[in-house]
Amino acid sequence: MSQSLAAYLRDKANLVEQHLLPALEREEVPVQLYESMTYSLMAGGKRLRPILVLATLESLDVPIERGIPYAVALEMIHTYSLIHDDLPAMDDDDLRRGKPTNHKVFGEATAILAGDALLTRAFGSIAEAYLNHPEVKPENVLRMIAELGRRCGAAGMVGGQIADMEGEGRQLQLEELEYIHRHKTADLLMAALRGAAYLAEAPPHMLDALTRYGLCIGLAFQIQDDILDVEGDTALLGKTAGSDQSRQKATYPALIGMEASKAKLNQLIYEAKQALTAVGLGDSILAPLADFIIQRRH
Ligand code: IPE
Ligand code: IPE
Ligand code: MG
Ligand code: MG
Ligand code: MG
Repeated sequence: MSQSLAAYLRDKANLVEQHLLPALEREEVPVQLYESMTYSLMAGGKRLRPILVLATLESLDVPIERGIPYAVALEMIHTYSLIHDDLPAMDDDDLRRGKPTNHKVFGEATAILAGDALLTRAFGSIAEAYLNHPEVKPENVLRMIAELGRRCGAAGMVGGQIADMEGEGRQLQLEELEYIHRHKTADLLMAALRGAAYLAEAPPHMLDALTRYGLCIGLAFQIQDDILDVEGDTALLGKTAGSDQSRQKATYPALIGMEASKAKLNQLIYEAKQALTAVGLGDSILAPLADFIIQRRH
């Protein structure tokens, strides 16, 4: 990764992190619940979904501050999905972001409720932040909220997660595996791109290109996640390597092999950049961000 991209990612992650705690409710929240929520939310992580919001706004020449509430909400939803994903009833993992998983520290009931609370707060905080916002039209806020609701719900991330569970121990067709990856992971990345496009009042052809880019990098992101589960190292990943194999998960390396998985990755990143080039965003920060998706080691 280039020094400048590394610096960009660090800067933007820092900016997002400054806004996470202030976006939570504090009053009337039971101490144990708050601790469980912040334990996972502030445990680090790449902050990729929020960074995509800010990078999209920057690429469209819109002040990135406009996207901060939306970026923060996406990180809350992502963190909720990780807390629930790690539960014994799901992937049953012990390590996340380099720390014991939420349920290991706070117990399953609190972990479930911390996830519920982060998901709920995400929507509440968006509505509060954009209510009477001087630069954002209410109809675009509603478009963004509708987008987010669909992409993280039953037809989106939750649908992908259930298909992932049902796929354990089975040999899937490639289309079934693509359904899982598209929904459990790509949908939230697409929501980042599309929500930012609404905030920027991007025209339809731009929205389409960003959607295509989001789908390609989203699929690539999950394929790289599958590859890192095989080739990565627990200490660097901050989560237990080999978890997929022990749960007999349907993954790209398991279904089509490592070499074909890496070829697929390169193809997707090529397509993602093509989508950018077609609308004049080939030199934007979104291009090196696409490369980062497959260069990352954690
Ligand atoms: C992990 O996401 C879960 C997937 C969707 C593959 P990240 O790799 O973005 O996790 P953090 O946020 O950096 O911890
Ligand atoms: C997680 O996929 C996707 C969501 C949390 C929605 P994985 O189960 O592969 O993610 P990791 O590997 O545990 O981070
Ligand atoms: Mg999972
Ligand atoms: Mg998992
Ligand atoms: Mg994984």
